[in-house]
Formats: sequence, C-alpha cells, structure tokens
Amino acid sequence: MKALIIYFTSLGRTKKTAEAIGSQLSNYEVDYFPFILTGTFGMKVSIQTQHNKGDFSTIAKELSDLEKIDQNHDLVILGMPTYGDYPPSAFYEIVKRLDIKGKNVIIFGTCSITGTKTMEIMKKTVEEAGGIIVEQARFKGFFKPKLKKAAQFGRMINDSSR
Ligand SMILES: Cc1cc2nc3c(=O)[nH]c(=O)nc-3n(C[C@H](O)[C@H](O)[C@H](O)COP(=O)(O)O)c2cc1C
Repeated sequence: MKALIIYFTSLGRTKKTAEAIGSQLSNYEVDYFPFILTGTFGMKVSIQTQHNKGDFSTIAKELSDLEKIDQNHDLVILGMPTYGDYPPSAFYEIVKRLDIKGKNVIIFGTCSITGTKTMEIMKKTVEEAGGIIVEQARFKGFFKPKLKKAAQFGRMINDSSR
C-alpha cells in the first residue's frame, strides 16, 4: 500500500509531526510532499501575506509538481498548521491539485492553543473535493510539537490498515 503525506510548514513543527506519523507507517510505502517556507521570520510572514492576497508564485513550482506526480496512493495524509485560527491560504491551492475523489484522506493540524477551526475547514474542503476523511488529529503543543502523540497516531493508522 502507498501513502502520500503532504504538509505545509513555516516553523518546522508540522514537518516534524508529519515525519513522526510517517515513521510508523510500516505497512505503507510513504511518499512525502512538503511545502516548506524558508528564510527569515519576516520573509515567511511576507510570503504568507502574498498567499493571503491570492499570489502563490512563491510556491508555484511545488503546486505544479504536485499536480504532476503520480497520485495513485491508497491513503492521503494532509497536515497543516494554524495561523491566526485558520490553515495557511496555500491549503486550498494544495487541495485543488489533489486527486482525492473517493479516496481515504487523513487530516492533521498543529497549533499552540486553538486549531479547531482549522480542522473544521480542512474537513469541509477535503470533503467538497470528494475525499473521504477516515481519521483526523489535532496536535496542540505550545512549546514543542507533540511528536510522541503523532507517532501514536501513526501507529494507529498503520494498525488499522491490516
Ligand atoms: C503567525 C502565527 C500565527 C499563529 N496563530 C495561531 C493560532 O491562531 N492558534 C494556535 O493555536 N496557534 C497559532 N500559532 C502557532 C502554530 O499553529 C504552531 O506553532 C504550529 O505548529 C506551527 O506550525 P509550523 O511550525 O509547521 O509552521 C501561530 C503561529 C504563528 C507563527
């Protein structure tokens, strides 16, 4: 079986969380498709501001590559952080490039305190694109990402594939 883990990260926490989940998926061949913002904090904020205005030129290559890859996976796992109570604007662009109609999708979110709204938006957007949400998790860590919980979530996903 094949799993595709797609995530967006600015500060690196969602990356670590995605990798903790993926590390437990021994029943799957795992492909990662990251959207990673680089540069100084100010540069990252400025990129997100651009995205919020509908300009995704900074991640145009990644979006185009995502559309082109073979998406013949049995499971798609989507991970997003919460910024200002919402997923990053790039999330909607990512979902537009996914072939998830009728496919099993797992969503996870990372946040400090809230993040519930992000999960609701992710669920609604994925379902509108025809994906079937089979599991979801929100990893709330104020100081550090919740990697043990993420690994536990990964094991649960792996075990339920048997
Ligand atoms: C600009 C900004 C806004 C944030 N807004 C929220 C928020 O509204 N609610 C929340 O719980 N956490 C918020 N956070 C914390 C992030 O959701 C959390 O640190 C997340 O894991 C970051 O993911 P990343 O490291 O993959 O970018 C915010 C962080 C940043 C940098």
